[in-house]
Amino acid sequence: MAALAPWIVGNWKMNGLSSDLDEALAIAQGVAVGAHARVAICAPATLVHRLAGALHATRVEVGGEDCRAEESGAFTGDVSAEMLADAGAKLVILGHSERRAGYGESDALVCGKVEAALRAGLHPIVCVGETLEQRDAGEAVAVVTGQAMASLPAALAGERFAVAYEPVWAIGTGRTASTADIAQMHAAIRGVLVDKFGDAGAKISILYGGSVKPANAAEILATAEVGGALVGGASLKAADFLPIIEAAPPPAL
Ligand code: 13P
Repeated sequence: MAALAPWIVGNWKMNGLSSDLDEALAIAQGVAVGAHARVAICAPATLVHRLAGALHATRVEVGGEDCRAEESGAFTGDVSAEMLADAGAKLVILGHSERRAGYGESDALVCGKVEAALRAGLHPIVCVGETLEQRDAGEAVAVVTGQAMASLPAALAGERFAVAYEPVWAIGTGRTASTADIAQMHAAIRGVLVDKFGDAGAKISILYGGSVKPANAAEILATAEVGGALVGGASLKAADFLPIIEAAPPPAL
């Protein structure tokens, strides 16, 4: 199987107005021809269609930040995977800790959303991560592998997707996990992927997220079993996001 390019994915969260489309274009125009990464911006639903149009002829793909499991129906305020795909999205972030914590999203609910993404032809990025309390209690690996086991449906076999390890205490805090902690957790997630998907599980990209910045990106991206980064705050500005994209190493063989 061909080696996979590292994924560098921006998560704009609840940021972005029409006036920010120019920043996305600046990101797309700044991606070097020889850049190694698969690059995407996951944006608020209100921007997906316009971003997909603006970035159409560039290397930067567009994704959503969440979707509902159902295809359509009486679910006021929600967005389906089909709607994101129709708007031009290629990927979707699912199970982000801000949704697990803020909306009580369970592993089972995330599983259903992942199945919806596959149904719509989107590549899911499934997030897992422990809180500081869980890490301090020595439960980090058990929590994260448990989330991975229960949030990844069997339907993912043979599909293109990624898992993102995002320690909750590292998100938006300026704190990053040490490379030793990242390597340990990614190895544990790799174990789950191989258990679930056999040999194919060895090739699935595992992204790290949590205060990835230009200053730490190269070290994180060079860490064992890190197949890319999910970037929040530093993806909002080309001046921050482009050096992270440039730090992506060539695909490991
Ligand atoms: P920050 O990069 O802002 O810490 O956010 C990480 C994140 O939650 C990406 O999904």
